[in-house]
Amino acid sequence: MGGTGLTQLEGLTLDGVLTLETPYGAPSADILKGRFAGGDVLFLARHGMPHRIAPHRINYRANLWALRAAGADAVLAVNAVGGIHAAMGSGHLCVPHQLIDYTWGREHSYFQDELEHVTHIDFSHPYDDAIRTRLISALAEEGFAHSSHGVYGATQGPRLETAAEIVRMERDGCDIVGMTGMPEAALARELTLPYACLALVVNPAAGKASGPITMAGIELALGEGIGKVKTTLARFLAG
Ligand code: HPA
Repeated sequence: MGGTGLTQLEGLTLDGVLTLETPYGAPSADILKGRFAGGDVLFLARHGMPHRIAPHRINYRANLWALRAAGADAVLAVNAVGGIHAAMGSGHLCVPHQLIDYTWGREHSYFQDELEHVTHIDFSHPYDDAIRTRLISALAEEGFAHSSHGVYGATQGPRLETAAEIVRMERDGCDIVGMTGMPEAALARELTLPYACLALVVNPAAGKASGPITMAGIELALGEGIGKVKTTLARFLAG
């Protein structure tokens, strides 16, 4: 699942383009099916192709449903994030092990309408450990600065946070902050799809650096960092 800065996966040998409809509507984009670094891959650009859908408007249910319908047996999510913990400087990569959800008003469950099927999924550990371990090995083999743990705080957006909100999130234990980690992770769990996140820090979170957070700064960090993400994905799939 490609996030901001990863709307295309160069190097993907394309076998097909899947235009899917789901009971929840259309996913953000066509799913690209092909091979990347020797692995079978389904690629979906979370924000659309080109990037146009804001985090709070993404149809997360359709996206996960479509990936599963297309044959996905696991989801590796790429997310651009702000850094809260001092170790999470721009360009740093993090494989979070936990999350806290601050989003609201999003369609966040498949179990909302069909009451007879209501299920309370176990979400104690939101990310799949086998995928995380493989990701962390890939990062280590490439020699990229990374954190093998971290708590992802998912905010509503599309605005960035206030400095006080980041202080509160830090107090809560958050290390990184992004807008798209939820409900995606929970929906994957509802569909029993193993799910993990590779987060690229693209700015210091609000109040963590002097001066405002600018889109130009974020885009610069994305441009510099996304190559590392792609290399990591290739290593992950080859491994
Ligand atoms: N906050 C929330 N989401 C983000 C940020 C941030 O600072 N940077 C990139 N995505």
